[in-house]
Formats: sequence, structure tokens, C-alpha cells
Amino acid sequence: MGLIDLVQTLTSPHPLDRYLELVRPTLTVRDMRAEITHVRRSASDSVTLTLRPTRQWSGHRAGQYVQIGVVIDGVKHTRCYSPVDPQGRRDRHLQLTIKAHPHGLVSRYLHRHAAPGIVVDLAPAAGTFALPESVPERMLLISGGSGITPVLSMLRTLADQDYRGTLVFLHYAKSPEAVPHRAELDDIAQRHNNFHIELRYPSLSVGERLGLPGGDSGEEHAGMTGGRAGRAGTSAPGVAGLSAASGAGGAEGASGAADPDGASRAAGGADALWSCAAPARPVGHFDYDTLEHIAPWFAAGETFVCGPGPLMDAVRRVYEAEGLDDRLHTEEFTLSTVPVDAADVTGSTTFSASGVQSANEGASLLDQAESAGLTPEYGCRMGICFSCTAVRRSGCTRNLRTGELDADDDQPIQLCINAAVGDVDIEI
Ligand SMILES: Cc1cc2nc3c(=O)[nH]c(=O)nc-3n(C[C@H](O)[C@H](O)[C@H](O)COP(=O)(O)OP(=O)(O)OC[C@H]3O[C@@H](n4cnc5c(N)ncnc54)[C@H](O)[C@@H]3O)c2cc1C
Ligand code: FES
Repeated sequence: MGLIDLVQTLTSPHPLDRYLELVRPTLTVRDMRAEITHVRRSASDSVTLTLRPTRQWSGHRAGQYVQIGVVIDGVKHTRCYSPVDPQGRRDRHLQLTIKAHPHGLVSRYLHRHAAPGIVVDLAPAAGTFALPESVPERMLLISGGSGITPVLSMLRTLADQDYRGTLVFLHYAKSPEAVPHRAELDDIAQRHNNFHIELRYPSLSVGERLGLPGGDSGEEHAGMTGGRAGRAGTSAPGVAGLSAASGAGGAEGASGAADPDGASRAAGGADALWSCAAPARPVGHFDYDTLEHIAPWFAAGETFVCGPGPLMDAVRRVYEAEGLDDRLHTEEFTLSTVPVDAADVTGSTTFSASGVQSANEGASLLDQAESAGLTPEYGCRMGICFSCTAVRRSGCTRNLRTGELDADDDQPIQLCINAAVGDVDIEI
């Protein structure tokens, strides 16, 4: 038995870290935590946190996610976030960009209240959506909304490594103001001739995009930046060249000590203003033509995509139709489920370790347990992190992602992606 184990035994029933946190929350022997050192509200509805993890942090691979535990009103809530840093940061800091969801508990809380000095729980980086160790010669990164985070980490890593292959980064957003790290994207595009970075705003009219009063048409529009000045004309056919003029656009609210990421932001300081050299052609949502325009070599490259369901579906459809599923790597932040079969929604769910029983509502067992007043552990709520795993003592459950049934007794299942089919006993 090691010294730490011995001390843990002496401090039982509470782990040693429970006592150490009374001295200083970042003083731990086993638990990993992180202190928020800087907060930047860089895009209209998101916040970027710089974290300094405790010594247990061993870094992440570009594209992976971490779980953080945040205490709100005395209750700890765990959520997954994908670091936006390049992998292999020497200063051992970590940066998360979090979009505030209108009804979201943790994201709204952090957007409003995150401040330097707050300490959060941190789990090691995990996930298979990651930049391959042997980087392919052609890479296409596609993201939408908050899904920009893991692919931005990949982009930054490739920029740091001075990747010499062909890289296209296509991002969809509501508006230029909603794109976090815009100034840095422009900076990367300016510095790497072989990187083509394209921003698209399918729901904006050309007038809105150009900032004309009241907008001027209902056409959809693309925004783009690619390579050094003058190269824009050689970019995606039919798309106007956009260049970034550094200036006063995108004012940011920032707090905390000197941000270790400040130096890596674009030389222009605040987010760059995006200006348009010529009227853009109308463009819309992702489809085969988009792919043909921006990455005609896609069949020979590797594509990484992360974004909302409709974007993921559109990309998957194209790759499936082309028989290129193995070239496509995907990550989603929300769960896509099969429709609930009304015949499943019978009987009752017993949470035997708690002595609680409730009528089967057809929801996930995690939702069902929470509705019954229980607080099982969870992280991603979409079958990725396994935090919610519990033993199904008896009964049948349906996997909400695949639709598959499983009725073996005493099996561990993920509560967030399984629903009861008739009577079920879960040991929580
Ligand atoms: C692997 C992984 C990586 C992630 N990385 C990031 C990241 O880098 N940045 C980031 O902002 N988020 C990321 N997320 C999403 C994040 O974990 C939370 O789900 C999100 O912040 C909402 O949490 P909340 O507590 O605010 O909302 P909750 O209170 O949990 O949910 C409130 C409502 O919002 C809906 N909702 C939750 N998440 C989303 C979503 N992503 N899109 C649309 N509706 C949603 C829920 O369905 C629910 O109705 C990631 C998720 C996963 C699984
Ligand atoms: S909460 Fe992550 S797998 Fe269920």
C-alpha cells in the first residue's frame, strides 16, 4: 500500500481530496480539477474559458473532448466540451468555447457567471474523433455552430505543425458575429497558403451580410477567407473573395489575468471585420455541389465533421451515396434517436437500489430516473462517455440510437441511450 493509499484509508469515509479542497480547491492528490484563469466573450452567444488544470492533466489530441463538473446552486453538473487549443500546448493550459443554449443550464450559467478563480472538476480528454497520428495529405474539416470547437483544434494543430498538405475548412454559422475565433481563422488563412477557410451564413441575405440597412435580398450567401491577399479570386468558384481587415469589429468582454491565448490571436487584436470585395453568389446549405466546389478531391482525402443534426445528415447522405463512409469521421453534440415504439411504453421502471418505482414514460432511463427524483451520474447524455452506466437487473431495454433490444439480466447499460420496454429493474 502506497503512502497516499494509507492516508486515504485514514481519512475514510471521505477521500483525502475532500479535505485538501478545504485548503485550496486545486490542491489534489487524485482528482483532476482546473481553475478558470481567463474569460472572453468572443462571439455573440458564446464564452471562451481558459483553464489551468492541476498536475494530473496530460493533454488532449485535437478533436477530443473533456468533461467538466460545475457546481450550480450546490449541485454538481457534468458536461462535455471539446478543447479548441492545438494539441501539445506547452503551457498546459486548456481553452473551451461554450455556446449558451437558450434553455441550457450549464452553458447559460458559464456564459453569464464564469469568472477567473472559479475551480471546476475536469476529466481526462477522451474520444475517438481526433486528428490521426499520421496526418493525411488532404483534409476537409466541416463544422456548424458550436461544432466548430473540435475541428478548430485540428486546424490550429495543423497550423502549428506547418502542415504542408491540402486543407479546406468549411464552417456554417448564423452570422459573422456568431463565429468564435474569427480573427484567428483569418490569421491562419493569411499565414498558410495551402489552407482554404470558408465561412458560410446560409440564413443571411446578401444585404445583411454586407451590413446594408435592412438587407437587400432574400438570397443566401457565403463568406470566405482563403490564403493570402489576392488568392481569394482563385478560391471556390462563384464565391466572392472576402478579406479580413483588422479593426474594431467584434468587441469582446474579457476578464482575468493576461490570457495565455492572447498572443495567438490575430495580429489585429480584436476580431477582424469581414469585408467583401465583390458581390457573392447565392449559396445555401451543404450538398454535393458544395463539396465538389470546395474539395473536388474529397474522395481521396479524409473528412471530419461536427455540427447540428441537419448538417451531419446532409454530409452523411453525400458520403453514403458515394460509398465513402470510411473517409468520413463524425462527432455530434446532441443525440439522434430512433422514433419511440408506442408498444414499448408499458409497465413500470424500478430503480431498486433507491427503492423508487415509476410508470414507463418511453423516455431514456436517465430522464426517467431524473423525473422520479433521482440524480444518477451523467456526462454527455448521448452514449459517449459511459458516466451513466448502471446495471439492468432484469427486463428489456431498447437502444435509442440503434433501435436494438436487449434483455439479458445483470448487464451494464448506458441510461442516457436506453429506454425501458415494459417492466425493467435498474440498480440505481
Ligand atoms: C463530445 C461532446 C463535446 C461537446 N463539446 C462542446 C463544445 O466544445 N462547446 C459547446 O458549446 N458544447 C459542446 N458540447 C455540448 C455540451 O456538452 C452541452 O450539451 C451544452 O453546453 C448544453 O448544456 P446545457 O447544460 O447548457 O444544456 P442542458 O440543460 O443539458 O439542455 C438544455 C436543452 O438544450 C438542448 N441542448 C443541449 N445541448 C445542445 C446542443 N449542443 N445543441 C442543441 N441543443 C442542445 C437539450 O436538448 C435541452 O433541451 C459537447 C457535447 C459532447 C457530447
Ligand atoms: S451520460 Fe455519457 S454515456 Fe450516458
